[in-house]
Amino acid sequence: MASPIIAPFPSTRLRRMRRTANLRAMISETDLSAANLIWPIFVTEVAGAEGEIPSMPGVERLTLDGAKRAAERAARLNIPAICIFPHSDQELKTESCERAWDPDNIGNRAIRAIKETVPELAVMTDIALDPYNINGHDGFVVDGEILNDETVEALVKMALAQAEAGADILGPSDMMDGRIGALRAALELEGYKDVAILSYAAKFASAFYGPFRDAVGASGRLVGDKKTYQIDPGNRQEALRCVARDLTEGADMVMVKPGMPYLDICREVKDRFEVPTFAYQVSGEYAMLEGAIRNDWLSRDVMLESLLAFRRAGCDGVLSYFAPAVAEMLA
Ligand code: PBG
Repeated sequence: MASPIIAPFPSTRLRRMRRTANLRAMISETDLSAANLIWPIFVTEVAGAEGEIPSMPGVERLTLDGAKRAAERAARLNIPAICIFPHSDQELKTESCERAWDPDNIGNRAIRAIKETVPELAVMTDIALDPYNINGHDGFVVDGEILNDETVEALVKMALAQAEAGADILGPSDMMDGRIGALRAALELEGYKDVAILSYAAKFASAFYGPFRDAVGASGRLVGDKKTYQIDPGNRQEALRCVARDLTEGADMVMVKPGMPYLDICREVKDRFEVPTFAYQVSGEYAMLEGAIRNDWLSRDVMLESLLAFRRAGCDGVLSYFAPAVAEMLA
């Protein structure tokens, strides 16, 4: 009986091309640069509320002046866009949320301040009622129910006020049905045809948003949960359906949110739709990594690795609280 021939060496030595940094660079498949980052910032109108957010160490609520300095920093670091989240006065939150479309609310003032300071920096906004809603929900609440169509009307007013203030990209994060079509139509009709929409298309009902709700002062307020409008974390087909719908209604770009636990969705969205695809590495993901970094349980390299993973999964860019730190590491 002939014994099987076993070569005395491996048939393929993949380690050959991993041997030196230059050889590795030659076969590197994915890149990450500052151009892939969108930096989310929190801006407060409440005296004394500025400063570090306890559940997001290293991230601060900024004053308007702080927001201007952040914009200058973003421009210096070649970060193309900043995304504004308002922290508004608790006393001024109401059930009718009228401050959401007030031209002088803190979000709109921040848009103007940044556009005056660094006109070329792209300014993205968030469209949802939660920062101005007394019960912390993204839509109007009547008898415990989140109203869809009435909310969409309010979101349109909010969007027009943001466009008027100079926003380049609107980010509807509310998950009401029909909002992208309504926003797109209103922008066209009101003379804002060049304002882009980055739809939070595949937004899941996630526990990873906790620290964000602290940051915008919505935590103690939220009555119930957001499961009647955000997607069940197990639902992949529904997420793809939301993306298809939002693109049909006029979204220029789409987002998957949260990010790291949803990289499968990112890949599928990119492959299926071949449109600009973004992910949001949300507050809870930031808190996990930054908390571990601060305890010396993980090295700072996890920031780069986590962002690179989004690129590998097909994302054109990532909203990340690590944006300035990572842009500095890459510079
Ligand atoms: C709300 C909104 C949320 C985030 C962005 N916009 C929270 C939520 O849906 O409750 C979360 C972002 C983050 O966690 O970093 N419209």
